[in-house]
Amino acid sequence: AEQGWPELHRIPHPPRRLPLLGDVLGANRRTPLQDSLKYARLLGPIYRRKAFDREFVFVWGAKLAADLADETRFAKHVGLGVANLRPVAGDGLFTAYNHEPNWQLAHDVLAPGFSREAMEGYHPMMLAVAGQLTDHWDAELAAGRTVDVPGDMTKLTLETIARTGFGHDFGSFARSRPHPFITAMVGTLTYAQRLNSVPWPGLLRRAGRRNEADISYLNRTVDDLVRERRRAGGGNGDLLDRMLETAHPGTGERLSAENVRRQVITFLVAGHETTSGALSFALHYLSRHPDVAARARAEVDRVWGDAETPGYDQVARLRYVRRVLDESLRLWPTAPAFAREAVEDTVLAGEHPMRRGAWTLVLTPMLHRDPQVWGADAEHFDPDRFDPKAVRQRAPHTFKPFGTGARACIGRQFALHEATLVLGLLLRRYDLRADPTYRLRVTERLTLMPEGLRLGLERRRVGV
Ligand code: HEM
Repeated sequence: AEQGWPELHRIPHPPRRLPLLGDVLGANRRTPLQDSLKYARLLGPIYRRKAFDREFVFVWGAKLAADLADETRFAKHVGLGVANLRPVAGDGLFTAYNHEPNWQLAHDVLAPGFSREAMEGYHPMMLAVAGQLTDHWDAELAAGRTVDVPGDMTKLTLETIARTGFGHDFGSFARSRPHPFITAMVGTLTYAQRLNSVPWPGLLRRAGRRNEADISYLNRTVDDLVRERRRAGGGNGDLLDRMLETAHPGTGERLSAENVRRQVITFLVAGHETTSGALSFALHYLSRHPDVAARARAEVDRVWGDAETPGYDQVARLRYVRRVLDESLRLWPTAPAFAREAVEDTVLAGEHPMRRGAWTLVLTPMLHRDPQVWGADAEHFDPDRFDPKAVRQRAPHTFKPFGTGARACIGRQFALHEATLVLGLLLRRYDLRADPTYRLRVTERLTLMPEGLRLGLERRRVGV
């Protein structure tokens, strides 16, 4: 019953526990993460919840999270939502177990796809996709309509990863409804989340059948894309080329056809869903903080000058826009948790003994709001928290939107470049008008997204 935590009894839990169901009743299965945040506020920096016959330990205090970042004693744990994605993503990079040889193989083969050189190659494609977004927004504006922020950010980020990584065009901006790939993906993410709320998958039989259909659709899409590439011959050294053609520099080994399929799905999903949410939250905050928007825009005007489109280096120089993004990811890290397991018997932060294999979930949104780190106003949006001086004074391992260690996000630079570029372009082109009646509501499908966020636009100046 202790599940690898010999002193589990010392970890606080919610007051009312039901014999069979544990703490799950009263839990909202549509918003499990936000539910966990409520318990975190109630119970403190480490706590546990019981679901059915299992105990789950949650951690968010800065001291505990910093200790979990020690790669000599802890490693990624594939559990809960991530483990539930194994049927679709298998031993792809995100869902691979640490011991699976395909993790290191794919990591080494694909990492050069995220080098600075590779990123410079993606930049013109990212600009082209951003141009489709501004064309669409110009048309909405001309028609007197507000824009669907999460919907349009999802179109943008899907097209960006599809084009830069796979030379593929889903034609999202030509569609009025989401591409079926998106519908199937949202279906599998939502199903993976729901699996955590039942004692066994059989209880979700109908949803399970729907999920299998979604997975088949994702597989078919990916198989078509790979077949097309094999027929047409090499791309230009993009991710798909690396997956298909590149041998491991040390061992000469290549990815198997089955593993390529897993990686393509992994990158199409991991490569857009969280960036879309990050952009959406940032646009929400910009629309609510005109002073911040004005400062960010002044920076864009200064750094980009009269250039019609920014060069690669002109994006990295948008320091304040980047802080807006960081601050949005602080409050709403769109991949809101990651799991760590003990690789040896150890004591977490000198206080909580863990046996080898015991694991815990780090609740990033709470870590990012720990008042001991971020102050009494931690709930308040303020990009100056990421001013270099403030960053230097802060304890390490307190800002973790991209996870930690060897299994941290491989696409971090990709996401940051894309999102900073797009925020710069949008700030330069439009004034954002918030709907004063909108209250931020966050939907969950493993990832976070602002629900129903629409913004009004005004064209800022002609000719740009
Ligand atoms: C891993 C967040 C964008 C591909 C992760 C992890 C986090 C994360 C927290 C670690 C998960 C864990 O420990 O279980 C984010 C956020 C993004 C973003 C917040 C956007 C704002 C991207 C992009 C790509 C990508 C653009 C690809 C182009 C991956 C992959 C992994 C990963 C493949 C698994 C890495 C491994 O285990 O080797 N991401 N990510 N992500 N991410 Fe991202």
